[in-house]
Amino acid sequence: MKKIRVQFSVNGQAQTLELHPLERLLDVLREQLHLTGTKEGCGEGECGACSVVVNGRIVNSCLVPVAQVEGATIKTIEGVASGEQLHAVQQAFIECGGAQCGICTPGMVMAAMDLLERNPNPGDADIRNGLAGNLCRCTGYMKIFESVVRACQKQV
Ligand code: FES
Ligand code: FES
Repeated sequence: MKKIRVQFSVNGQAQTLELHPLERLLDVLREQLHLTGTKEGCGEGECGACSVVVNGRIVNSCLVPVAQVEGATIKTIEGVASGEQLHAVQQAFIECGGAQCGICTPGMVMAAMDLLERNPNPGDADIRNGLAGNLCRCTGYMKIFESVVRACQKQV
């Protein structure tokens, strides 16, 4: 298949790449741009490990052909902290032990940030719903849940 030129921005940096239009955004981020914080779990849209934000909406980057992000503004886990200053969600994951092996963690952080942007004061059910698309094999979810609660408290 013929390559096309695709332009988009990632974490505030403009990118112009020659790519096969059906290449997965996940692979482009990891292999071409070396942004390996975004993880691959299932590769089928089921686990949320590959979550990134495209034009303000959280998406599973394993399901996005790169042709679809022409002109888009993309944020990955590498763009979440401000320099040395971690985002409140990242800090809360550290303080509450919300990460173990870490494969799900970038996606969980992106999902939690997305939730808090839409609803800065979520209830327990809102948090569970907000993280429902993200799977974790390690933590049993309780520490992740507590991390999001802690992040809410930090924001107020
Ligand atoms: S790797 Fe994309 S949803 Fe699992
Ligand atoms: S910390 Fe290992 S999958 Fe969640």
